[in-house]
Amino acid sequence: MHYEFTYKNNIATFVTEITMLCFRNLFKLPYSTLSNMKFFIDTANLAQIKEAQDLGVLDGVTTNPSLMAKEGISGDENVLNHYKAICEIVDGDVSAEVISTDYEGIIKEGEALAALHPRIVVKVPMVKDGVKAIKYFSQKGIKTNCTLVFSAGQALLAAKAGATYVSPFIGRLDDISVDGLGLIEEIRLIYDNYGFKTEILAASVRHSAHILGCAKIGADVMTGPLSAILSLLKHPLTDSGLAQFLADHAKAAGK
Ligand code: E4P
Repeated sequence: MHYEFTYKNNIATFVTEITMLCFRNLFKLPYSTLSNMKFFIDTANLAQIKEAQDLGVLDGVTTNPSLMAKEGISGDENVLNHYKAICEIVDGDVSAEVISTDYEGIIKEGEALAALHPRIVVKVPMVKDGVKAIKYFSQKGIKTNCTLVFSAGQALLAAKAGATYVSPFIGRLDDISVDGLGLIEEIRLIYDNYGFKTEILAASVRHSAHILGCAKIGADVMTGPLSAILSLLKHPLTDSGLAQFLADHAKAAGK
């Protein structure tokens, strides 16, 4: 199994990683089993990001050019300021997508984005120059999110290039009658076979069934709208049970 020695200066982390590796191999556990599933919100809307952050379950944010446009954010300076505002609300990683599709352009844009704030993750599309750029960024210690991934082959390539996150779009696959969760399962298997450290960020999540499916398979992260996160709260028996408890309490108190 390929395992990079990158902990020269951090013996404690190294020992922990080795122990976890042995534990996983001993019990044949997938790599995601020993870490917490992360919840990212997929929006550029500051109010919704704040609401999710206040709920106490938010681990990061993903954005894309369409989501920025939806909030009416345009012009280089406004875009950069908006990313900074997002970074100030959340504690976790914030994906900011490059617009360029050529190597030099991606590098220039990505370096400028990364310099904005330590939480920024450079989001790079799955194109040939994007893969080269991911390799470059990973060697420079800049976090990346390889986006617009629709096949296991693309996910394998992103991991080989050293992407921090890979974003398979499960909702968009479901839209064309291809099993999105099936792709997450395939990528999980491939990454676990070789111990790739790239995190599977299930994207284009639309509803609670997607989130639960991702959790069962062992996606490291899911990103979806606030509505998908809040839909996890809902069950009709919770609502009727609570109404009954409150009514009984009021009756007993003679109200
Ligand atoms: C991922 O990072 C993308 O922003 C996103 O999840 C796309 O989702 P959509 O298919 O709902 O547009």
